Amino acid sequence: MKMLEQEINRRRTFAIISHPDAGKTTLTEKFLLYGGAIQTAGSVKGKASDRHAVSDWMEMEKKRGISITSSVMQFEYDGYCINILDTPGHQDFSEDTYRTLMAADSAVMVIDAAKGIEPQTRKLFKVCAMRHIPIFTFINKLDHEARDPFDLLDELEKEFGIGTYPMNWPIGCGVSFKGVYDRDGHKILAFGDSHRGRDRLSSIDCDINDTARMDELIGSYAREELTEQVELLDGACFDFDIEQVRTGKLSPVFFGSALNNFGVEFFLEHFLKMTTAPLSRQAGETTVSPFDEGFSAFVFKIQANMNKAHRDRIAFMRIVSGKFEHDKEYFHVQGGKALKLSQPQQMMAQERSIIQEAYAGDIIGVFDPGIFSIGDTVCEKSNKIQFEGIPTFAPECFAMVEQIDSMKRKQFAKGMNQIAQEGAIQIFIEPNGGLERVYVGVVGMLQYDVLESRMKNEYGVTYRQYPQSYQYIRRIANGADPKKLRLFDVKWVQDFHGHDFLLFNSEWHISHTLDNNEGLELVEFGH
Ligand code: G4P
Repeated sequence: MKMLEQEINRRRTFAIISHPDAGKTTLTEKFLLYGGAIQTAGSVKGKASDRHAVSDWMEMEKKRGISITSSVMQFEYDGYCINILDTPGHQDFSEDTYRTLMAADSAVMVIDAAKGIEPQTRKLFKVCAMRHIPIFTFINKLDHEARDPFDLLDELEKEFGIGTYPMNWPIGCGVSFKGVYDRDGHKILAFGDSHRGRDRLSSIDCDINDTARMDELIGSYAREELTEQVELLDGACFDFDIEQVRTGKLSPVFFGSALNNFGVEFFLEHFLKMTTAPLSRQAGETTVSPFDEGFSAFVFKIQANMNKAHRDRIAFMRIVSGKFEHDKEYFHVQGGKALKLSQPQQMMAQERSIIQEAYAGDIIGVFDPGIFSIGDTVCEKSNKIQFEGIPTFAPECFAMVEQIDSMKRKQFAKGMNQIAQEGAIQIFIEPNGGLERVYVGVVGMLQYDVLESRMKNEYGVTYRQYPQSYQYIRRIANGADPKKLRLFDVKWVQDFHGHDFLLFNSEWHISHTLDNNEGLELVEFGH
């Protein structure tokens, strides 16, 4: 096999998704420990003071001690070259979180065993499902009291409309957590104090029918319960079908405890075998294979002001095909220009390093003098392909923003417009209203802080902001005249093209509006 093929074949690029506190950071950290990319636990979510030494990112990021935009980590494990795309949660949830999923070939969904599916898991799952990428579920914190595992599977199947296939099965939980049963290997992996820390574990081979030995290891009560559950599982559960996994219809489920390093290695080994090497992407009619000789990539994220002194921006690209070489000239399709990508970087844990080459599947960050937009294509000059754009995601929070200083009217409008063009915010106006008062829609609240600081630093503008309680936006589809609609507790706004939108507080308000206005058609944002 040629070197290019070999390099690409061993790459695995996935996003890790969860609701805050389910254990995403802990699990990522264990992956990195196995890969030898970090030496101590706690390195990923370092203290704010530690981060200053390695990063000169935005002021705000320093203050808050968080990474505002999704970060990318690369490490080696068992011959694989792994790229993890982290999806930020908490207040730093933003459109970037969704866009990151566009760069992944599969997703690992971490779920807290006591809580099951939570709101953020739901939102992120939706985006993964839209792309039909494989989804692997890690049900975490079995060392704590957990919900019934059958219940958890049922919830995943009903809420997400997918099949589940437990790869292992928990034996008890909380104080009576005894370990997991490896369904394919027909053996158990017992849980005990020795499993804490980073040491690799050897599983205890024990046939589930070897009653005496099983009783010795987990006790007769747990053994009887396990035997019953395994019978039930074998009878009632979906059959394993790798094709269904690869199209996102069947999610392999793993139980474990990231904090105790239990079930993590089992997960990694099975996951890496089941996921695919980098996937092909569509560029119009053309399917671009990762193994195509020519380099191609698309921009999925732009991080502004990583260094305030230089007003620099970094464009993050996912390489779709071929090999990236540091000194080569490439073609920026949307800009219509040949260029050298300067300061190409990759991230290893929290270190950044300049790279000489990278392959399909990898993520690189390049210095952007302000020429790139989200979704842009960079490729060999002779190819001139154009990848399908990145969808715009519906805003989920809204605020009314009013300029204070009428002398700064122009700067206010310019700043709002430019930042909206970058895709970080969406702006709406009141019908027939001016630009001194706009409705700003964002995916995550953090964008308001980013907006405020950028407007101040880059455009010298301050403003007043009034948070709104709206959470949903729909476009009026069939040319209905909004003035004639019966609207209760609903806000009518327009975009700059004069399209009419309605803002709602809840799903109930949407159905209520539809019920009260016969013939009205509402479509999701972006459609
Ligand atoms: P996140 O990135 O998804 O937000 O979650 P994170 O890994 O930060 O984990 C959230 C909390 O859950 C942390 O506790 C972490 O130690 C704990 N945790 C993660 N995995 C497990 C597990 O398998 N079992 C148990 N019992 N706890 C787990 P914390 O007290 O909030 O933070 P810390 O002080 O431990 O850092």
